[in-house]
Amino acid sequence: MAKLTILSLALCGLLAIVFSGPTKVNNVYEAPPCDVDACQLPSCRCSSQTPPGNLIGPNVPQMVFLTFDDAITVSNHPFYEEVLFNRINQNGAKIAATFFITHEYSNYSLVHDLWARGHDIALHSITHVSDTGYWANLNESMWRAEIVAQKQQLSTFASVPLAYIKGVRAPFLQVGGNPMYSALVGGGFEWDCSRPTQNQRIPGLWPYTNDYASTQDCQIPTCPDEAFPGFWTFPMIDLIGDDQFPCAMVDECTPVPMTQAATYNLLMRNFENQYNGNRAPFGVFTHAAWLVGPADRPEFAQRKAGYIQFLDEILAMPNVYIVGISQAMEWMKTPTGTADIDTFVPWLDDPNRVRACPFPRNCRYENSTWERFMSSCIPCPPEYPWVHNPQGTNLHYDD
Ligand SMILES: *[C@@H]1O[C@H](CO)[C@@H](O)[C@H](O)[C@H]1NC(C)=O
Ligand SMILES: *[C@@H]1O[C@H](CO)[C@@H](O)[C@H](O)[C@H]1NC(C)=O
Ligand SMILES: *[C@@H]1O[C@H](CO)[C@@H](O)[C@H](O)[C@H]1NC(C)=O
Ligand SMILES: [Zn+2]
Repeated sequence: MAKLTILSLALCGLLAIVFSGPTKVNNVYEAPPCDVDACQLPSCRCSSQTPPGNLIGPNVPQMVFLTFDDAITVSNHPFYEEVLFNRINQNGAKIAATFFITHEYSNYSLVHDLWARGHDIALHSITHVSDTGYWANLNESMWRAEIVAQKQQLSTFASVPLAYIKGVRAPFLQVGGNPMYSALVGGGFEWDCSRPTQNQRIPGLWPYTNDYASTQDCQIPTCPDEAFPGFWTFPMIDLIGDDQFPCAMVDECTPVPMTQAATYNLLMRNFENQYNGNRAPFGVFTHAAWLVGPADRPEFAQRKAGYIQFLDEILAMPNVYIVGISQAMEWMKTPTGTADIDTFVPWLDDPNRVRACPFPRNCRYENSTWERFMSSCIPCPPEYPWVHNPQGTNLHYDD
C-alpha cells in the first residue's frame, strides 16, 4: 500500500508537469465555458437546446426513456413483464426501459432476466440510505463504495457483463457534485441521469458531455463544476403537473392522477412539448410503486391503464422510439436521422445478451432482529453483501 501511494504520488507529480490543466479557482478546477469548435462528437458535446448532427424537426427521432428506480422484486417484475416485454418499436426491435437498481431487496435472477430481454441495467447505490444529507456529503471514496463496487456486485450476482453497466442515478436525485462524478468516471461509468432541469424544458435541454461548464440549472445542489471529459449528463427535463408545478419524476407530479384519462393526459401533454418541439429525449421517470398497488385501491389499475394507453399511442406515432439511455448515448455520439434509423445497430435487438442464470439460488441471511433474502445467479456468498463488503465474502475491499 505504502509503495503504491508513493508511486502514485510520483506519477501525479509527473503528470502535473507534463499537462497544464484547466485553471484552478478557489482551490477547484472549474470547467471553462464550452468551446463549440473544440467540442465535437462523438466524444464531446456542449450543453444545448439544439439537436446534434445538424438534424432538424421531423428528421430527429423522438427518443423516449421509461425508467424505474430501486429494487427489482417478485412484486414489481410481473408489471415489467406485462407492460414492457411484448412491445416493439417501429424498427422491429423490442422497446427497452432503463432500471436504476438498488442492491437491498433486489432479486438478481430477475435482474438477469431484465438484462437478457434487452433492458438497460443502471445503478442506484447499494444502501439507498434514506437521508439525503448522507448523499449530499458523501466523499469520493464512499461514492466508490456505494456505486463503483455495486457494478462488480451486480455483475457477479446477476451475471450481467460489466461492459453493459454504464449509467447511474443518485438516490433521491441528490447528486454529490465533483466527488460523485469523479468516482463515476474513475469507475468506468459513461453517463448520469440525476439532474432535473426546470429552466430548459421547452425547448428541451439535450444530453451533453462534461468536458466544459454546462448551462444547466442546478436544482438539487451540489452539482459538479469540474471538467469530466466524455462523461455524459442526461438531463431530466421536468414535466408539468396539472397544478402547473414542475416535477422531475412523474410520480411526484401533482395532483397525483387517479384515473386512466388523467394519467394519459399528463403523459401525452408533456410528451407533445418535446415531440412537437426540438425533440429532446422525453423521460417518464418513475417507480413501479406509482403503477402497481393493492387491488382495493383502483387508482393503481387506472394509472397503469393510462400509462399503457400512452405507450401504445406513441409507439404508433411517426419516428418515436422507446430506448434505453445507454442506447440513446450511442445515438448522441453518432446522430442518425429518421431516414436511416431503422438500421441503426445500437437500437436493434442485441444478440449478445445470452441468458446465463440457469440455476438461481435463494440466499437467506438473518440474526435475531433482521432478515434478508437475495436471489443469486451464483452460489450464495457467506455473508449478506453490503457496502464495504459488496461480494459478501468479507474480504477487504479498498474503496
Ligand atoms: C470518506 O468518508 C468516510 C465515511 O465518512 C470516512 O471514513 C473516510 O475517511 C473518508 N475518506 C476520505 C478520503 O476523506
Ligand atoms: C443484525 O444484522 C444487522 C445487519 O447486518 C445489524 O445492523 C444488526 O446490528 C444485527 N443485530 C444483531 C443483534 O446482531
Ligand atoms: C427471485 O425470483 C425468482 C424468479 O421469479 C423466484 O423463483 C425466486 O423465488 C425469487 N427469490 C426471492 C428471494 O424472492
Ligand atoms: Zn430510489
